Amino acid sequence: MTTQFDYTRIPELPASVYVAPLRKPAGLGDDWLEPAQRRYSAEEHRIWDDLYARQIELMPGHACREFMHGLERLDLGRGGVPDFGVMSEELRSLTGWSVVPVPMLIPDHVFYYHLANRRFPAGNFIRSREQFDYIQEPDVFHDVFGHVPLLTDPVYADYMAAYGRAGWKALKYNRLKALSALYWYTVEFGLILEDDALRIYGAGILSGPTETVYSIEGRSPHRIHLAVDRVMRTDYTISDLQATYFVIESFRELFHLTEQRGFEPIYESLAPGFQYAKTAALDTDHIYHRGTQEYELRGGRGSGARPV
Ligand SMILES: [Fe+2]
Repeated sequence: MTTQFDYTRIPELPASVYVAPLRKPAGLGDDWLEPAQRRYSAEEHRIWDDLYARQIELMPGHACREFMHGLERLDLGRGGVPDFGVMSEELRSLTGWSVVPVPMLIPDHVFYYHLANRRFPAGNFIRSREQFDYIQEPDVFHDVFGHVPLLTDPVYADYMAAYGRAGWKALKYNRLKALSALYWYTVEFGLILEDDALRIYGAGILSGPTETVYSIEGRSPHRIHLAVDRVMRTDYTISDLQATYFVIESFRELFHLTEQRGFEPIYESLAPGFQYAKTAALDTDHIYHRGTQEYELRGGRGSGARPV
């Protein structure tokens, strides 16, 4: 049975649901939106340009077709941090989405609320030169370069809004963790098959050079066909390269496996917590590449292990 929710309001947190305690900066409403996009300094615009120049080189042969189209449509390389208003106007005419500024990582239930209403919350700040290669908090480069191009694709745009609506149901069943794993392995770190070749659609991969190459060409990570129930039970890495990537055939398949099947039966069948280690390869998996896991086993980032 499906429950009706009012997606125009921020979902209420049931008492049973624990969320990370994030401290909201003074002056912001419950929606966590900043009144305007920040004005960036000349150096900050240059940081965008340098990040863009490094990343755009790697896109052909790595990024999926829909991402490349989106990049072109939005013309994100016209110089400096893109203007959210200009981007939103273009997006609105294509898929009804807009990009809105937030100061930092925002609580999950507020994030779902914006997605369900076709607003993508993007970090208002940009990393410093010292953080050029790696930053854990999602900044404007990750959020705009990584996420926004695909919002020009109608099927993907619908999936993102469906994901937002799924948040209400996850709260009801206390399955936020499972839904976060799905987001992680699709929206952030997903791979897609394109004419039998692997390509990237995950924003966490596409906004950094090392993982762009490693996710597709590395011998260390597994590459496994995506099964939603399996992915929702799987642990993941937050601040290092992934041990496993999940592959879809098309955005239509992804939408079909989630929204059309209905999230509620999935949540009902899931136990709380994760059942599978991030390095696991199961008998039931359709495996494209069984990874050696050597990067992970050597200790990953911080151990000096090479991402191979
Ligand atoms: Fe992201």
